[in-house]
Amino acid sequence: MEDGWEASAGAWIDVMGDEGDWGRKHVLDAALLARLEGREFSRILDVGCGEGRFCRMLPHPDRTVVGLDPTEDLIACARDRDPHGDYQVGTAEQMPFPGGSFDLIVSYLSLIDISGLQQAVGEFSRVLRPGGTVLIANLTSFRTASLKNLTNRDESDRSFLCSVDRYMEEFWYWSEWSGIRVKNWHRPLSAYMSAFLQHGFELRFFDEPLPGSGESNDQADAFRRAPFFVTMEWQSAADPAARPNPTPSPVSRTINRQNRRTRGRQMRSIR
Ligand SMILES: C[S@@+](CC[C@H](N)C(=O)[O-])C[C@H]1O[C@@H](n2cnc3c(N)ncnc32)[C@H](O)[C@@H]1O
Repeated sequence: MEDGWEASAGAWIDVMGDEGDWGRKHVLDAALLARLEGREFSRILDVGCGEGRFCRMLPHPDRTVVGLDPTEDLIACARDRDPHGDYQVGTAEQMPFPGGSFDLIVSYLSLIDISGLQQAVGEFSRVLRPGGTVLIANLTSFRTASLKNLTNRDESDRSFLCSVDRYMEEFWYWSEWSGIRVKNWHRPLSAYMSAFLQHGFELRFFDEPLPGSGESNDQADAFRRAPFFVTMEWQSAADPAARPNPTPSPVSRTINRQNRRTRGRQMRSIR
């Protein structure tokens, strides 16, 4: 099924501008860049790179950065803005790279857009060198499970709490804001964790990043009261022969069973 990204590409480019939206600019850019500081990664892949903004923040003489995204108009924009960059059209589920091509994979708010989570994580494991790193920023699962119209209001009539429902199910919904209308996935946090564990990755870092302490406005306040993002870092098995054969864990079996009842639903974006 069409996921809305081609039709939304123009609006997405406008919303991101040069600096990214509020959450990227005030929370995630710094959180992800801090994880890279002082570390040697010479071959980096940004999966779901969009119009390439984060790739352009990474260049360094000793680094090769590749951006991958299935949305042709976003890749065209990335190439326009960075003519010397390497931007390729393709999906996380079936990557056009040989095994062991990268030291680091970045997934910056793209796991929620990827339909085939298990295949994608299998591909991460294949295209990373043994012991390579996956650095992820994703929406918190309680946010993707919340319905905007059920948001509670505080004493100042500001919306702040998200009402969570169907948390343990896996389903997609239409996320709409500022002329963008794209298909996003809700998955419980355990579905993401299980997918990486089943492919032999080890968790090295986990956080729920907040805006910098200098930020004080309604948006920063809302982030602090119920965070929008998780960041995590996974390391692939140092010995590929020791990688487990992914078998569904009890958690993902539950999800698969529930998935048979999966249905789309309309939901406004909470980003
Ligand atoms: C929310 S945007 C994030 C873009 C960029 N990483 C950023 O943070 O600005 C999600 C991106 O995932 C891409 N995408 C959708 N399905 C994908 C898939 N199966 N594999 C890889 N990327 C996908 C979309 O085209 C879109 O560019």
